[in-house]
Amino acid sequence: MVFNAKIPYNDLPPLPPEVDVETKTILKETIAARSALAELKGLGATIPNQALLVDSLILQEAKASSEIENIITTSDALFQAFTAKTKQTDPSTKEVLRYREALWKGYNDLKDRPVLTTNLFIELVRTIKEHSGGIRRMPGTAVANAATGAVIYTPPEGETVIRDKLKNLEDFIHAEDDLDPLIKLALIHYQFEAIHPFADGNGRTGRIINILFLVLNGLLDLPVLYLSKSIIEQKNDYYRLLRQVTEKGLWEPWILFMLKAVKDTAIFTRERTLAIRALMNETMEKAKEKLPARVYSKELIETIFRQPYTKGQFLVDAGIARRQTAAEYLKELERIGILKPHKIGKETLFLNVDLYGLLSK
Ligand SMILES: Nc1ncnc2c1ncn2[C@@H]1O[C@H](COP(=O)(O)OP(=O)(O)OP(=O)(O)O)[C@@H](O)[C@H]1O
Ligand SMILES: [Mg+2]
Repeated sequence: MVFNAKIPYNDLPPLPPEVDVETKTILKETIAARSALAELKGLGATIPNQALLVDSLILQEAKASSEIENIITTSDALFQAFTAKTKQTDPSTKEVLRYREALWKGYNDLKDRPVLTTNLFIELVRTIKEHSGGIRRMPGTAVANAATGAVIYTPPEGETVIRDKLKNLEDFIHAEDDLDPLIKLALIHYQFEAIHPFADGNGRTGRIINILFLVLNGLLDLPVLYLSKSIIEQKNDYYRLLRQVTEKGLWEPWILFMLKAVKDTAIFTRERTLAIRALMNETMEKAKEKLPARVYSKELIETIFRQPYTKGQFLVDAGIARRQTAAEYLKELERIGILKPHKIGKETLFLNVDLYGLLSK
């Protein structure tokens, strides 16, 4: 049968594909991606307070993933919204924050129940879209070219059909085969997007599943892999290669694309983590030298590295100071040029200028 972009693709084949997905080229690229990922994972163990870096990295992943959907928010709006109490956050910033929330939620769920299920996928999309919907029941969902509006893909239709295909996907995810998890990741991501189980949010849900799958397989300890950045930078290839799997059964270029995305992103994320760590150490040195001894503490500097904007409450929550003293500490950090005050509504937030510079790069 000839593939028709306008007809629901109920014939989407189950996983695994019938073709060889372990070609020599694929295996070679798998090794490269695995070793980059192992170095990223190994880095985690050398960072005293790992959780520290997670939020800033996740915020960037959230931002990049949402940009694929053209939900553009500036880093600044995002970082401010993350810290400020204001309810006037714009809708796109809210979407990005919800992506972050969904990623954390999925990660925490996985710790309690180490499986990726249809129910978890539904929970993720509900968090991302902030609604109570589920698997598509109505026809009419299609992937279209953003510029021309031309339909490029129509996913399977009918709730039972969709659920059956998701069940096959779940089975494949947990199957004890000897396929490398990174090759499986590429297959799973294609399959999830091709099933396209929801009316919207499939791309973002699929990108969260990627990260959770790596955690599930012990390839990452924390949900930090800035994968969406690589995808957005090559969105045309990403879309084209997805199509080629469907239209021509061309798996190899797609798998190679995903492996390279994992490799590049692991390298990038590792470098960024190292840069944040180095900046934090430098800042500690500087603060130790210039702040009064009663003000300086390692914990104080760690706290202002949790996210670019800080406020007194964060210091209170971290058990570093009481309210009054916290305000004084922030002023001291401002005096020596590490923080800069910003008034947002009635609140004053303090920006870690150098950290912000680094994250906005
Ligand atoms: N030809 C295709 N076949 C299957 N899936 C596709 C195809 N082209 C794109 N996709 C997937 O569809 C996603 C878009 O679907 P949807 O709008 O439901 O998700 P989203 O999260 O709202 O959007 P986005 O991915 O743009 O952020 C893309 O991110 C991509 O993963
Ligand atoms: Mg969409």
